[in-house]
Amino acid sequence: MATTLTETETVASAAPVRMDVEDGIAVIRLNQPGKPVNVISAGLVEAMHGILGRLEAGGEGVRAAVIISEKKGTWIAGADIEQFKDFKGPADGETASREGQKLLNRLERLVIPTVAAIDGAALGGGLETALACTYRIATDSPRTKLGLPEVQLGIIPGAGGTARLPRLIGIAASLDLMLTGKQLDGRRARSQGIVDEVVPVPVLLREAKRAANDLASGKLKPKGARRRGSPKGVENLPGLRGFIFRKARQGVVSKTHGLYPAPLRLLEVVERGLDKPLDAALELEAKAFGELAVTQEARSLVHLFFTSTAAKNDPPVPEGTRPKPVDHVAVVGAGFMGAGIAAVSAESGIEVRLKDVKPEAAAKGLKTARDTLIKRAKRKKLKPYQITALTDRVEATAAYTGFHTADVIVEAVFEDVSLKHGVLKEIESHIGADTVLGSNTSTIPIAELAKASARPENVIGLHFFSPVDKMPLLEIITHPGTAPWVTATSHAYGKKIGKTPIVVNDSPGFYANRILSPYMAEAALLLEEGVSIDDLDRAMTRWGYPVGPITLYDEVGLDVAQKAGKIMAAAFADRMKPSQVIDKMVADGRLGRKNGKGFFTYGDDGKKTGADESVYALIGAAPRKQVSREEIQDRLGLMMVNEAVRTLEEGVLHSARDGDVGAVMGIGFPPFRGGPFWYVDTVGAQDVVARLKKLEQAHGSRFAPAKMLLDHAAGGKKFFPEG
Ligand code: 3HC
Repeated sequence: MATTLTETETVASAAPVRMDVEDGIAVIRLNQPGKPVNVISAGLVEAMHGILGRLEAGGEGVRAAVIISEKKGTWIAGADIEQFKDFKGPADGETASREGQKLLNRLERLVIPTVAAIDGAALGGGLETALACTYRIATDSPRTKLGLPEVQLGIIPGAGGTARLPRLIGIAASLDLMLTGKQLDGRRARSQGIVDEVVPVPVLLREAKRAANDLASGKLKPKGARRRGSPKGVENLPGLRGFIFRKARQGVVSKTHGLYPAPLRLLEVVERGLDKPLDAALELEAKAFGELAVTQEARSLVHLFFTSTAAKNDPPVPEGTRPKPVDHVAVVGAGFMGAGIAAVSAESGIEVRLKDVKPEAAAKGLKTARDTLIKRAKRKKLKPYQITALTDRVEATAAYTGFHTADVIVEAVFEDVSLKHGVLKEIESHIGADTVLGSNTSTIPIAELAKASARPENVIGLHFFSPVDKMPLLEIITHPGTAPWVTATSHAYGKKIGKTPIVVNDSPGFYANRILSPYMAEAALLLEEGVSIDDLDRAMTRWGYPVGPITLYDEVGLDVAQKAGKIMAAAFADRMKPSQVIDKMVADGRLGRKNGKGFFTYGDDGKKTGADESVYALIGAAPRKQVSREEIQDRLGLMMVNEAVRTLEEGVLHSARDGDVGAVMGIGFPPFRGGPFWYVDTVGAQDVVARLKKLEQAHGSRFAPAKMLLDHAAGGKKFFPEG
């Protein structure tokens, strides 16, 4: 029999937590009012203490407890990230961490067993809450994900995760999760030993109560019992533990060049805490959490969390504009990009038709799409029947059959206006008036493409980045005649396939390539001046880019870069003059990685083997010049930042928010710098203007600061005044 406690006995109904005693099991239901997800806020902590107090007092006939969420799609999304913005110094973060630890220690030390019944996201403090429970059951829903993503916010787990996870699943496995921020579904979490059982959503509560009962009666023993001591077994063999940490540290340093303090600090906290009693390990954790939470790196990464979430949830369309549901997509052009678009769409439950002119080309594209799907599905440990269901969602065709059912068309044929015009006309004769006509182009103006259309209001740019399954950004480009429902539907499509969409106005290069172009052109100029390939690349990877500009030339393809460079130079002659270097390279048959010949040499396995010294003679510039790393970084970095500000000034961007998201997710602007606009706010517009003026004097007018930058410098303005 269920005894639902009355309002006077329980926390008020608007409280974030409610406890009902049902047949001797306390069912603790989380549902934070007014929030889309449950987060560990001060209110939730207080309410949980109230409940734990009642459980400690006993007297309600409670034998075990279950913690479950009433929010669809989330169990607990972690600490309230919003509160991090209020931390003024390390002490504030440390206190917040201690509060979380205190609550979870109290939960862990209850004499009755507790079961975390997880459906949806259990991330950060959410997973840490689950780790403090005796037993964990997760659902097999695709929305269930467990992980400790704190390093992605520039911090480390602060509510016991650094101590409890290694004690539960071992050192190497827990470091992998904490250093990458990887999120596991229920099944993978079970295979790693993080959860004890996986069940279907509808039976979660029933199974959690059953487990709670069995734990109380002793019929079921928690598998995570070793959590209370330090990790046992092979990882503690002399030398092995040291080896694991050494390897992990090397991995972090080679990936981050020491630019991100959180992962290194995480390793230190875990290593030092392992042999200590839990309370002492938690002390180390709280201190490090407090110090990291107020670093510039953490502030920038938190900024990116909120800007990218807002870009996902808040498209620039008139209020009330409703997107069309996107269940069917047709992709025209089954090359590498088209196949990638087909794969990511199918992976998100969309039925896809992939068309090319010739059946063989369509079949090849289908194979590429399927291979991508299979690779990704295997990583997620999907069952063979699930993989078949996924791959069956893509069908190849050489005709336009089935196009009339498509909600969105993505044309991904070769980058040529007249070819695209012809294809657009053909497509239109096979689709209805309510189909979005998207073009995956990186350079051709959308208004120009729309000229060939009988329904220009349906035409929009959908600029995917390569490789499509890995790159998180979708740049959506509207022309002046694009209908708002088309923008809204494209945005919804982007979100559905797991991309972060930004919407920008039509202009040469749109946003991403527009800001990349002068950066790349400047790199080529520096080469011409006699700076070496390695010095250039190293300077920019040390600034935080994942690869340097010269490597990027080879990756993109020098012919592609040459073509894009000319289009951009025609539009912005004053500052994007293409360098002779690229023309000379292409004339010599050097196309980059794709033909194994570029600025670098490549082995038989396609791996880069080093800078190709013969390039210097070809471009007529021996590496003779010593330009300081800082100057290279300023010439390239500020070139991009300045151009980004111009795009906002001209209205290509709707907001600085989209500019930061686009630069980080589309072209690898260093995340710890938060994006070009956040960077200006961080170092100060006056400082950026002064450095640009110095460069302008030394190298010419292409460095002239954008007007908006000058205004910000003069008026002490910020792009993100709220911080
Ligand atoms: N804090 C504050 N707000 C949060 C939040 C959090 N932890 N998680 C989500 N939100 C907000 C979002 O900003 C968004 O707000 P909006 O409605 O104003 O735009 C809203 O909740 C919904 O979020 P999404 O649009 O992202 O919803 P999805 O369903 O697509 O995704 C999610 C849900 C998977 C939970 C995703 O929001 C997410 O990954 N959240 C962050 C998870 C995270 O990083 N947790 C760690 C926090 S740090 C921590 O826990 C420290 C601890 O160790 C002490």
